[in-house]
Amino acid sequence: MTRALPDDALQVTVCGSSVNPVDLFAASSRRGAQVLGTDFAGTVEAVGRKVTDFRAGDEVFGGGKGALAPSMIVAAGGAVALKPAGVSFEQAGTVGVAGTTALQALRDHGRVQPGARVLINGASGGVGTFAVQIAKALGAEVTGVCSTRNVELVRSLGADVVIDYTKEDFTRATQRYDVLVDIAGTHSLAECRRVMTTAARFVGVGVAGVQHGEGGGRRAASHFLGTQLQALAGRQKVVPIFIAKMNGADMRFLAGLMESRQLVPAIDRSFELGQLESAFEYLREGHARAKVAIRIRAPAGPPT
Ligand SMILES: NC(=O)c1ccc[n+]([C@@H]2O[C@H](COP(=O)([O-])OP(=O)(O)OC[C@H]3O[C@@H](n4cnc5c(N)ncnc54)[C@H](OP(=O)(O)O)[C@@H]3O)[C@@H](O)[C@H]2O)c1
Repeated sequence: MTRALPDDALQVTVCGSSVNPVDLFAASSRRGAQVLGTDFAGTVEAVGRKVTDFRAGDEVFGGGKGALAPSMIVAAGGAVALKPAGVSFEQAGTVGVAGTTALQALRDHGRVQPGARVLINGASGGVGTFAVQIAKALGAEVTGVCSTRNVELVRSLGADVVIDYTKEDFTRATQRYDVLVDIAGTHSLAECRRVMTTAARFVGVGVAGVQHGEGGGRRAASHFLGTQLQALAGRQKVVPIFIAKMNGADMRFLAGLMESRQLVPAIDRSFELGQLESAFEYLREGHARAKVAIRIRAPAGPPT
């Protein structure tokens, strides 16, 4: 049955999407599986009667419910923006969640200023590869932390310094940072504070380094609780964890960065929609490199 298009919405034929760790939870619940996915890039097939900012044929990207499907309905005032011409659907389809999260972590919670020394723990995954580039675009001096096989990738994205966590513990370094963005959750806040300046900001994004495998849920919960407790002491500004909020203004901001080539979505593996389970399996291993894209075949014609 075809859903009627609301007056303020767009019908989008989805060409590209991607998987994010949050999808792993939805995928494991039968109800969530019906509206899987958030990131999308595609073509506007039809617009609701009250839509003035978009028209049929526009190439767009952003975030909305049920993006891992050939067609979706997106609120015109929601997290959607025009896709820059030089960016492929596959690339733009990976930006929504991870791009927004990286942007809000650095700009809004980290308040990164030009010249700030920023450390990104977990620099080689979906959020991390956006964060390295966005931090550079904001004028920061960037240090990325990842494993040996990803050192070159993180450097190629613009990181000034890359620390290989298999060889060096960044919390034992002599360098001090103004903003520490923690995507991996592998060290306590107390340990991170050893390398933070007195006026530094700590931004907790995720737990990519501890959440997967047996006991992952318990480790993640204990990390968040520990961060919250340790945040009560100390003078530095600590955001133990924040939840990114996707919106149109930030999608346009990210589109601008892509237009100027300051941001190029990094994709290591792409899967067809029919291979979704393999994509989830790869993500579940906890060492996905850059973004995991999903190619979605467009339906033949406009919705009836
Ligand atoms: N707060 C929010 O709103 C928000 C939004 C999106 C995601 N998140 C969370 O943020 C985290 C990252 O998301 P994502 O999409 O970037 O996930 P992802 O792409 O699956 O992250 C995989 C990356 O994590 C890195 N990693 C694994 N163990 C590490 C360690 N010990 N030290 C440093 N890096 C390590 C891996 O690098 P190596 O292979 O080199 O180890 C890999 O490149 C997840 O916990 C996710 O749930 C939060």
